[in-house]
Amino acid sequence: MMNFQGSHILSISQFDRDAVSRILQVAQSMIPYAARQKRCHVLEGAILNNLFFEPSTRTRISFGTAFQLLGGFVQETVGAETSSLSKGESLFDTAKVISGYSDVIAMRHPEINSVAQFATGSSVPVINGGDGANEHPTQALLDLFTIQAEMTRFGKGIDNINIVLMGDLKHGRTVHSLSKLLSLYNNIHVTLVAPKALQMPDYIVDILTNAGHKVTMTDSMAGNLQSDVIYQTRIQQERFSSLEEADRYRGHFSLNKEVYQQYCKDHTVIMHPLPRDSRPEANELDVDLNDNHNLAIFRQAQNGVLVRMALFALTLGVDEKLTQYEKPVTWYRG
Ligand code: CP
Repeated sequence: MMNFQGSHILSISQFDRDAVSRILQVAQSMIPYAARQKRCHVLEGAILNNLFFEPSTRTRISFGTAFQLLGGFVQETVGAETSSLSKGESLFDTAKVISGYSDVIAMRHPEINSVAQFATGSSVPVINGGDGANEHPTQALLDLFTIQAEMTRFGKGIDNINIVLMGDLKHGRTVHSLSKLLSLYNNIHVTLVAPKALQMPDYIVDILTNAGHKVTMTDSMAGNLQSDVIYQTRIQQERFSSLEEADRYRGHFSLNKEVYQQYCKDHTVIMHPLPRDSRPEANELDVDLNDNHNLAIFRQAQNGVLVRMALFALTLGVDEKLTQYEKPVTWYRG
């Protein structure tokens, strides 16, 4: 079993199936604290530095929420322009300094491998909150937690499922990390629906096929969405060389009630890492699906708190001590 304590969390590639099972198990044990049925102050006195050099709503705020739910204190840096990185300071020097102020660091940065580079200078665990188009490991773990939870409703597990990954699979780091994670499981049929120019990178397809999974690649929704899970993604406009180029692909694979009824099974679970682009020209996941109980996107975002709590508990070595540090909730929670 991987030793989590003191480890950086940089890529899904560092985990085996046992390590992933342990993360999901610890995440499950966080439910009473995240639901405020009980408080846990096991990380009282610990400091998280949340360094977000790219926009984020869910990842940054759920990292902060997760740490505070375990009793820790959170400091935030938002935008490279507010940091001395904008004066030419290196990631290594920044890490040397900030890790001296922290017990753990969560970081998002627009450049591929930047978080790993930062981690070389850090004396405390660094958790990758997304490095360019490369990876988003905590998102993949919360996605897997969600798949497991949703499949339980149908008496299934993660093995043997059919999953569709759709949209901008070239630039979408969440689908890269999720594919790596799925490669640890058995007998999965992965259907990759994307415009040819935005298909999944070959090395990720190789990871899936080498795991023994069936991989179907297509640029058509018709006949290809009969799955247990459909995972829709956004056109990652910030990774294109121009807005005009990104505009060319918007709206090609809009998932709405009509498409769902025509092409999906009646129990296909709908996932999306969010944010969804709800502008009319994109509308990749229509609000007309909001009343569909199989729309798991907000449950998925909520699960991010559980998984990030688990990663803090594991990397800081307190995953076995949670119940010793419980307290009752003393305020009204409607
Ligand atoms: N899913 C995700 O990474 O969302 P944010 O960009 O809002 O953090």
